[in-house]
Formats: sequence, structure tokens, C-alpha cells
Amino acid sequence: MKGFFDKMLFPAHAAIMKASDAKSHLDDVSGKVPALKNTATPNPFSLVIFGASGDLTSRKLMPALFNLFREKRLPDVFHIIGFARREKTDDAFRQEMKDAVHKYSRVQPSSESEWDAFAKNLFYYTGEMADEQAYAGLKNRLKLMPGSREVGHHHLFYLATAPEFFEVVPRCLNASGLVRRDGVTKLVVEKPFGVDSESAGHLNAALQAEISEKSIYRIDHYLGKETIQNLLYFRFANSIYEPLWDRRYIDCVQITVAEEEGVGTRGGYYDKSGALRDMLQNHMMQILTLVAMEPPASLDPESLRDEKVKVLRCINGCCREGLASQVVRARYEGYRNEEKVSPESMTETYTAVKLFVDNWRWAGVPFYLRTGKFLKRRVSQIDIVFRKPPSILFHAQTETSAAKNVLSIRLQPSEGIHLRFNAKALAEAHLQEVGMDFCYRTEFGSYSPEAYERLLRDAMIGDATLFIRADEVREAWRIMDSIRKQWDALPMYVYPKQSWGPQESFQMLENDGNDWVLGDGFNERCPC
Ligand code: BG6
Repeated sequence: MKGFFDKMLFPAHAAIMKASDAKSHLDDVSGKVPALKNTATPNPFSLVIFGASGDLTSRKLMPALFNLFREKRLPDVFHIIGFARREKTDDAFRQEMKDAVHKYSRVQPSSESEWDAFAKNLFYYTGEMADEQAYAGLKNRLKLMPGSREVGHHHLFYLATAPEFFEVVPRCLNASGLVRRDGVTKLVVEKPFGVDSESAGHLNAALQAEISEKSIYRIDHYLGKETIQNLLYFRFANSIYEPLWDRRYIDCVQITVAEEEGVGTRGGYYDKSGALRDMLQNHMMQILTLVAMEPPASLDPESLRDEKVKVLRCINGCCREGLASQVVRARYEGYRNEEKVSPESMTETYTAVKLFVDNWRWAGVPFYLRTGKFLKRRVSQIDIVFRKPPSILFHAQTETSAAKNVLSIRLQPSEGIHLRFNAKALAEAHLQEVGMDFCYRTEFGSYSPEAYERLLRDAMIGDATLFIRADEVREAWRIMDSIRKQWDALPMYVYPKQSWGPQESFQMLENDGNDWVLGDGFNERCPC
């Protein structure tokens, strides 16, 4: 895409973002926290991380917690307890977490004393996740923590474990009396949440048997990204785009989440999952719902999530034109030689799908979604492609027809929004595409909190807006199931590493008279 993000700036967004500065109400049991206004200080809490020796804890959770501490967004009293099976002292755990923060945090401790002030709140507890006795011990340990009276029952239990423990841990927590059903105790669950609609339904029921739905925080880390949250502000705090946001003006919607890396050391997990389950079911369907949803009645978590679920309910999977013309799957060259990947693997590392949201607003508008590993660039972007203007006025004069206007919302990296439109070329009588840009970095500086900082704090204050509700997760799986039903009958293409994926995904759009906005002409440069 020529000249992407390299022209003027959109200045309007600073004012929009200020809306998020409004004060939030605290917690808790009412579930009536106004959404997207995360400025309250959480109540004193104890956070227990199950699976504390895993990658997620070191790479994401601990750096996020440290940054929240640095920015004085944690209460005076808090405890972070790592729960895992390996024997370890508190001090050894603190040292490991120090190394993790050093390696992965976006900001380093400014001094030893700053780190020490944070680290004194870190503790370690050795236990088997399926051993009920261990939970009785954990309960005692929580009681004996300094400041435990202030914490009361404000416990967050974070499942950063392998999925086979998602049911076991809540069961043991409940059996040992560590769960309160009034919303004060919170359970944070990572993905993958099931592997299909049936298993997700089963898991929902198993969790809800131990703890109430309003206490369950299902994570999709994409919802913690600033650019994803901005979708709501962009759509519903401006009057110029929303009137155009439907089938009368929009030709198609494209959502790309491209990754530059392969599966790396995660081959064991990935080979059982694949792009459809790993990315499409969760992150990409979430983006789609935010693009397609109706304005919610209010910004409270339930109104917002109701609207997202309605979008999912209107998606009929891939039965409109037949799976073969709506889905492409492929793997990158050499995938079968990756560590812990089966040499006969039929797992996809790339998928592109065409979906339709069958409601009044979107009937007939294709939503093209694609995601893959080892693609040409790391870039996530939404492209709203508007209908082609009629070739009446300028056609005879310029012999070129006007291009479709495109609104591109860059989610990462070089976050920003770009509008591409037609103008008269300087001193020539022909049309030229030009652009207008808004760039996060120029407007707000380089500060960009990590998704997990936002999500952890939201869970602490009891704001479930950016978490997935039980019905949402099932609906998203229902759509995936309808695709997977005929999955094995689809050809498995192979694409070269560092490409934009298989030709067939370009063909899929070409058959509709469209093409991917993001392609080889793409300019990675940030506008600022
Ligand atoms: C995870 C997937 O949920 O998201 C990974 O399991 C993927 O396979 C990652 O790499 C992408 O996240 P981000 O934030 O780097 O775009």
C-alpha cells in the first residue's frame, strides 16, 4: 500500500482519550463498574499465581505487576504468591522474578531499593495443583500474610497453568473454603478456553459449579491493548464515521494479524492447536465483534458484552458459499521439522476466512480475516474498505477511476489510524491517492502500557468489561466448529517463510473483486 502512514496527522484523538481519565468507582460485588475507566486504586489483595514457574509469569505477569507498582497503581498492601510444585524459597522466587523483570519488562527498576520495595510483596508456595492438602496450607499461609486483615477475602487466583488444571484448581480452592461466591474472590483464566464449543461449555459449567460467573475473568490479552480499546472510542465518540459504518458504504472489512516468527519452542502446544484455535477463535473474533457491534446501551460491562455476543450470533460460519471458497489453510515451509511438531502434522500455521455478519447493518459485507506465523511482517491491522465511487465525473478526464477509500486502523506496531482518499494530483488532471494519519506515538508519546497491566488491574478492581463472558466464548467456538466440521477435506497449502501466505488467500479475495490492503507495497514506517 503506497505511502502508508506517511502524510498528515489526525489531531483529534487526544481529546477523545481524555475521556478515560474520569474516576472509576471501586469494585466490587455489584458488577456495575463503568467500563474503560480504569483509574481507581484496587483494594488490598492477595494474588495467587498457579503455574508460577511458567513462561507467562516471567514474560508477562511479573513485568506487568512490577510496572503497576512503579506507577503507584497498586494498593499499599498486596501479596503476590507464586504457587508451583518445585521446592523453592521466597528469596529464590524473588531472584527469579528479578531476572524476569530485567529481561522482559518495558521499564527497569530505577534502583535496588525500588526493586526491594516491590519484591518484599512476593512469596512462594510449594504445592501440587491437584492436592487438596496443599490448598489447606495455602489458606493458612494467606491468613498469616502481613496485612491479611486488610486483604480479607479479596483473593485473586490466576490460572497461568496448562489447561488440564483449569478445572482442578477451582475445585480444590472451593473445597478448601477459599472461594466466596459474592464476587469478592476472583478467578482469572488464561486461554485456551476449551478446544471446541462442547469442551468450552463443559469448562464453563465446571467453573461455575465452584465460583460464580461474575467472578470469572477469561483473558484475551488483545482486549488489553490500547489500540483495541480505542476502537470503541473511535467508533462511538465521533460523529463522522458511525453514519458510514454499514453495508450501504462499506465494501468489505479486512482483519490481518500477521506474525514474523514461527512457532519457536511452542511446537508441542501449537501442533495441537493451529492458527484457527490459537488466534482466530479468540483474538480475531474479538476484534471483529468490536468492529461490527452496535453501540451499547451504556458502557457497563454487561451492555458491552451483550452487543459483542449479538454479533457472534449473527455469524453463520462458512456455510453461505461453501467452505472451500470461504476458507484457506496452509502451513509454512519447514513447519513439520520444528521441535515437538509431528513430521506428519496437518496443523495449519496460517488461515484466511471469509465470514458474514447476517444482520441489518452488515448483510452481504464480507469480513476477511487472516492470521499466520512466519509471515512477511509483524503487523495487526483492520482495513475498512469503502465502496468504489461511481466512475462518472473524473473518469473521462483522467482515464483512471477513483480508488476505494480505505480506513486502516493499525493495532500494532506503529499504532495509528490512516485514511486513504483520492485527491487531484498537483498540476495534473489526474487522481492520486493521498492519506491522513493519526499516530499514537506523536500524539501521546512513547508510553504504551502492556496489555497485561491493564487486564490485571481491571481484575483487581472487579471490572470485567475487557474479559470474555461464558456465552461469548461458546459462540466464538460455535463458529469455529462449523468451519472445523469440514476442515480435513480442505487442501493444506504450503507457503514460503517471510511471505504474505499462500496465493489461494489472494485468490479468495480476487474472486470477489477485492484484494488485501496489506501486501507487498506496504510501508512499515510510522507516520511520525
Ligand atoms: C497468543 C498466541 O495468544 O498470541 C501466540 O498463543 C501468538 O501464538 C500471540 O504469538 C500473539 O500476541 P501478540 O500480542 O504478540 O500479538
